[in-house]
Amino acid sequence: MAFNYITAEEAAQMIKNGDTIGLSGFTAPGTPKAITEAIGAKAAKEHAEGRPFKVNLFTGASTSDHVDGILSRENAINMRAPYQNVPDLRKRINSHDCHYFDRHLSEMAQETRYGFYGKIDYAIIEAAAVSPDGEVILGTGVGNVPTYAMMADKIFIELNEILPETLYGMHDIYMPLDPPYRREIPIYRANDRIGSPVLKIDPSKVVGIVKTKFYDGVKSFTAPDEVSKQIGSNVVKFLVSEYMSGKLPKEFLPLQSGVGNVANAVLYDLGESKELPSFMMYTEVIQDAVLELMKKGKCTFASTCSMTFSDATEESLFGDLKYFHDKILMRPAELSNNPEVIRRLGVIAMNTALEADIFGAVNSTHVLGTRMMNGIGGSGDFTRNAYISIFSCPSVSKGGLISNIVPMVSHADHSEHSVDIIVTDQGIADLRHKDPVERAYEIINNCAHPMYRELLLDYLKMGKGGQTPHSLNAAYAFHNAFNEHGDMSKADFSKYC
Ligand code: COA
Repeated sequence: MAFNYITAEEAAQMIKNGDTIGLSGFTAPGTPKAITEAIGAKAAKEHAEGRPFKVNLFTGASTSDHVDGILSRENAINMRAPYQNVPDLRKRINSHDCHYFDRHLSEMAQETRYGFYGKIDYAIIEAAAVSPDGEVILGTGVGNVPTYAMMADKIFIELNEILPETLYGMHDIYMPLDPPYRREIPIYRANDRIGSPVLKIDPSKVVGIVKTKFYDGVKSFTAPDEVSKQIGSNVVKFLVSEYMSGKLPKEFLPLQSGVGNVANAVLYDLGESKELPSFMMYTEVIQDAVLELMKKGKCTFASTCSMTFSDATEESLFGDLKYFHDKILMRPAELSNNPEVIRRLGVIAMNTALEADIFGAVNSTHVLGTRMMNGIGGSGDFTRNAYISIFSCPSVSKGGLISNIVPMVSHADHSEHSVDIIVTDQGIADLRHKDPVERAYEIINNCAHPMYRELLLDYLKMGKGGQTPHSLNAAYAFHNAFNEHGDMSKADFSKYC
């Protein structure tokens, strides 16, 4: 079938107020860039002329300024799911200009197919190539595009000439059947390929192809600071001791790791470790550090939903994909984050917390209990199903004015039933096989910053009984002190007695 080549502006003209759009990609990689910019420009014009214009936007995960940035600045997003991390969108969400529903990433595609979120008007797909019969070589991120493409009435393709066709073979596109017909997902090792190297779409739905030329715009990481390095070294210390004690199999287990400086520092330390064998990753995102581990032979394979590499790395990688071609497989989010597969493979999950409480609950999403930061992302998918689930965070934030170990989390994303290990720059708390009070001493003594330990012990002693001795009047004394004085260390429990 011969496709129509159109401009991004022509594509945007077809999008109407209230339309629902599903985007390919996961983080900036694989996510369209040109048509969403043009939709932003259209929104600005519509608003200037006094007409309402907002769209509903479904993605794989976070996107980039080309999507969430521009559309938020133009106040053009009505509903958004399942994850974001762009400051302009965060402001819109927290001021109720945008309805955001924060979902486990593994669930978004199937719930879209179940019909929970209504109809998809358009899918916009970034591609390296598309054949006349609708075989698409995707870019550097997959997300939920198989479902959005299947469900959308119409499809736009952004053909990004930066993306080499040699990406062919690095994708594993597979969609499970929905209940009651679902069978097991036949991934038995992280590197088992189960699907197709291309996304198959209905070519008659393609209303236009837009040619683009964009790198993903991912910044290079700065060198980890001292706190991140200390956390990284504590995580690796923990993994080495588990391995040496035989609690991890001798072949080791696949790792999941988040993004950011702490995750980078952990991966760096893993690469340096003499005690740990080489390993595979079963994760949702890989960043530059993973390529370094692959070059050293420390990481032998990565199953991921996207290659979130800096532009410099992307450029050099695209020059010669050969070395990495059989070491990386990009899959849809419902596979990369699939609870069944994570449980089967025995993935070791390593995620980051905003705050943890002394009994082991974790807040990943809400600053001081109310303001949405990013979303739960894949942390719930991995934490609940991991062989071992590790959360890390600095012991304090804002120069010590905030303790990230608190009496009670101000918002609970992960309960103590799922969190095994907490790591801060101060040390490691192993919560397994411990009752609530034992966990509290382990966390306070090993993970809290020394300037907050006495206060946390005082709180624990205030408890009036019960297996988990919270004092409900005083549980938020730290947060109240921060709201009143800008400093959690000014918490005064006597006010609550
Ligand atoms: N209370 C208030 N503010 C806090 C805080 C707390 N307990 N802990 C951290 N902050 C602030 C920091 O001071 C920093 O503020 P700044 O940007 O003004 O400097 C900001 O929050 C980010 O903190 P940082 O420690 O740099 O966090 P991070 O970049 O490591 O991200 C999460 C931490 C939890 C927000 C992030 O990992 C996330 O969104 N997780 C959920 C998604 C996920 O885990 N996905 C799976 C893996 S990809």
